[in-house]
Amino acid sequence: MRIPPYLRSWTRGALALAVAGALFVWTGSVAGAEPPWPANPVSLEAQQVARLYQVVLWIALAVFAVVEGILVYSVVRFRRRDETVPAQVHGHTGLEIAWTVAPALIVAFLAFLSFQTMFAGGSAREHPLTVQVVGHQWFWEFRYLDDGFATATELVVPTGRAVRLDVTSADVIHSFWVPRVGGKIDANPGFVNEMWFTVEEPGTFQGQCAEFCGVGHAYMPVRVLALDPDDYEAWVEAQRAAAAPVQGLAAEGEDLVTSGACSVCHTVRGTAAVGLVGPDLTHLASRSQIGGMLANTPDNLAAWLADPQSHKPGTRMPNMGLSDEEIEAIVAYLTTLE
Ligand code: CUA
Repeated sequence: MRIPPYLRSWTRGALALAVAGALFVWTGSVAGAEPPWPANPVSLEAQQVARLYQVVLWIALAVFAVVEGILVYSVVRFRRRDETVPAQVHGHTGLEIAWTVAPALIVAFLAFLSFQTMFAGGSAREHPLTVQVVGHQWFWEFRYLDDGFATATELVVPTGRAVRLDVTSADVIHSFWVPRVGGKIDANPGFVNEMWFTVEEPGTFQGQCAEFCGVGHAYMPVRVLALDPDDYEAWVEAQRAAAAPVQGLAAEGEDLVTSGACSVCHTVRGTAAVGLVGPDLTHLASRSQIGGMLANTPDNLAAWLADPQSHKPGTRMPNMGLSDEEIEAIVAYLTTLE
């Protein structure tokens, strides 16, 4: 069959779209990151959002198919095939009313479903674990006020227990979003937004800051780590402890961290380091990632200390111009902070 020229360019366009789509999915799977996607919810709250998302998605796809279908049909069917001017028509009262009323009804229906979801309630809220969530340029801080410690980047929660997040910001507006766990909520400076969920199964759930917050916005991921209640209690016990005394090379590192420039920004509980600008480092070694970007290994820690900017462009952590010996000592110290 001979393909007419105008169809050939469409075919090319459709092919390019398909290739771009496949590349998108492929790069996602190669990066190994589970994309923040509201499928497979692990809480009732996320399930409610996912259900709404599905309805909106299918209605949007149906609208797209109908509108594009009519458009493509018209372009093909009524294509001008000679040099004559086609019949000039305009206005059709019936049609104008139809394409005003139909979208209004669709939007009203979606609004109804959205309000229904917003006021659906969600899971039971007895004996909640309350965590203060603070967005920073560009990391998430989690303050477990009842237990007197703070962590960063990774929010650890028990399964089967209501969690209340008091979400705020230390600088600009961020947005806390872990799609499999719950909805999306803004982190506004000087204001606290509440978010509730109960995670039903253990696992690690990926999220991302969802409000443009400056140059490091794309490098502001977040993870929710849900543990069985026993594992969670053990984790809390470990986190409550202050940093243990160290010896040898690690002690040299401790000296650099707690009396040097690091202590201006970072806290290590039990030492002289009480800075509040950067993440609390008291149990840094218990976290799976550095800066939300790198796996927490000694090699990566050393690479991060040598040049934070190259691993997380825009990060407020400056390059301290540390010598190799200093980095070695600091890494020896930080890896003791379990
Ligand atoms: Cu924080 Cu975008």
